[in-house]
Amino acid sequence: MLDVAGLNQGYAGSQILWNMALEVPEGSCTCVMGRNGVGKTTLLRSIMGSARIMSGKITFAGIELTGSPPETRARRGVGYVPQGREIFPQLTVGENLELGVVASGRRKKLPERVFELFPVLKSMLHRRGGDLSGGQQQQLAIGRALALGPKLLILDEPTEGIQPNIVSEIGDILIRLNREEGLTLLLVEQKLAFARRVASRFVIMDRGRSVATGAMSELTDELVSRHLTV
Ligand SMILES: Nc1ncnc2c1ncn2[C@@H]1O[C@H](COP(=O)(O)OP(=O)(O)OP(=O)(O)O)[C@@H](O)[C@H]1O
Ligand SMILES: [Mg+2]
Repeated sequence: MLDVAGLNQGYAGSQILWNMALEVPEGSCTCVMGRNGVGKTTLLRSIMGSARIMSGKITFAGIELTGSPPETRARRGVGYVPQGREIFPQLTVGENLELGVVASGRRKKLPERVFELFPVLKSMLHRRGGDLSGGQQQQLAIGRALALGPKLLILDEPTEGIQPNIVSEIGDILIRLNREEGLTLLLVEQKLAFARRVASRFVIMDRGRSVATGAMSELTDELVSRHLTV
């Protein structure tokens, strides 16, 4: 469904991604793993079009996205939950969710399913985003991306800084979206237990390159200690 090939990217002189390749098969939950600073977020921002790339090709659902602006990628059905959530603190929960609908480029109502998945958002509809807890903000960021009606949902460390019971709830919801509703997921995650539980495939990055990939069941302790443990 998503195919990234030969991606090179850098910021002001220092190259971050080196001939990076990534394949996200339709229906999979593919997890990108790697230590801090290896370029995981840069990879996602390159896919979304918010980081400029030097070379490479990004194809989504058979259409080349390389060079198209972020709005176009969203409209084609790529939903994005950025690292650190990036909700608008001054806007209400409802207004934050509406932005997801606007980003879809279709005149639509906010899907009721968002509230079915995250009832807490309905009860806090008129509260300011900035007044929500970290876990609630993460739910809002996922809800906003789902409001777009995505074909592919990309999440950058959705469990970062969140208390264990919400982490497990978010895991339940991602599993439901992926396995019951068939939504394709691309997840960046450093929590190994969460990644093993939710994802079907892994891609390990090290210093801007893809160094190992396979089914989650093939993620050996040897790979973990070589590329993931600090
Ligand atoms: N806007 C930017 N300008 C310059 N350098 C950047 C920028 N964003 C990231 N970098 C650098 O690019 C490298 C990769 O960063 P990136 O955020 O992609 O890593 P990451 O794997 O997502 O790390 P983490 O696990 O901490 O989120 C780092 O060395 C970082 O300092
Ligand atoms: Mg990151």
